[in-house]
Amino acid sequence: MIELSIEPYPPGTTFLIPQSPAASPHSTLGLIMAVQVSPSILSADFARLADEAAAVAAVADWLHVDVMDNHFVPNLTLGLPVVESLLKHATLPLDCHLMIEEPDRWAPAYAEAGARNVTIHVEAAQSPVRTLRAIRAAGARSGLAVNPGTPVESCEDLLSEVDMLLLMTVEPGFGGQHFLDMVLPKLRRARSLVAEHGTAVWLQVDGGVSEETIERCAEAGADVFVAGSAVYGSEDPARAVQALRAQAERATAHATWAAHPQPGRPI
Ligand code: DX5
Ligand code: ZN
Repeated sequence: MIELSIEPYPPGTTFLIPQSPAASPHSTLGLIMAVQVSPSILSADFARLADEAAAVAAVADWLHVDVMDNHFVPNLTLGLPVVESLLKHATLPLDCHLMIEEPDRWAPAYAEAGARNVTIHVEAAQSPVRTLRAIRAAGARSGLAVNPGTPVESCEDLLSEVDMLLLMTVEPGFGGQHFLDMVLPKLRRARSLVAEHGTAVWLQVDGGVSEETIERCAEAGADVFVAGSAVYGSEDPARAVQALRAQAERATAHATWAAHPQPGRPI
């Protein structure tokens, strides 16, 4: 009798398997492609921010914080001190969207404070590579936003520096505006660009995302959905998040772009 020892790899060998984006812990369909929901506190009661954050903590993936400086956009909201306070009270990771001039100067501080994603606008950044790297170096995900009229191709050379592209689906500055359908072709182009480059960049949409529009966004390629008035304008914000997620997941399940998952980075 011959004794065969089948041991093709030495004990302790580790195998590196490319990671797909993890399904959100709130996923209702157990999809491989993650749908993430990021409620915007712009439409919340600013005097009760901790309570408003808690209202969606069990069902959302992120808390979207809109920082506006009344220069880059014609509105003024909040800044680093409020973000630092929210970080003490909110359990969801903060997704900070900086609609400000001089993001190169201000953005790294949000990451250093503990925001888990910091997004700057390509229209405002003077040194996007340095700033996106500083955000990552501080331990946050780096986001790059484009206004409705800015071509996404202007971001192509920056894709390796970016963890999330934010395609604005309204002109930034205010909640409760009408969704701009004209952004959908750009969203499809953005999804193709990400696939071409083989990167794990998330595609976020922000502005006018609601039960009427979220399926179009998911079908066109979005995987992270910001919703302000659709969540905080509702009587039951948590239920609104769940309804939006279910719709986005159904649309993603039928989307052609989602048939070819890209490797992902964990949050
Ligand atoms: C707008 C902000 C959005 C805003 C979206 O400039 O960036 O995050 O909260 O609000 P809704 O979802 O109401 O359009
Ligand atoms: Zn925003």
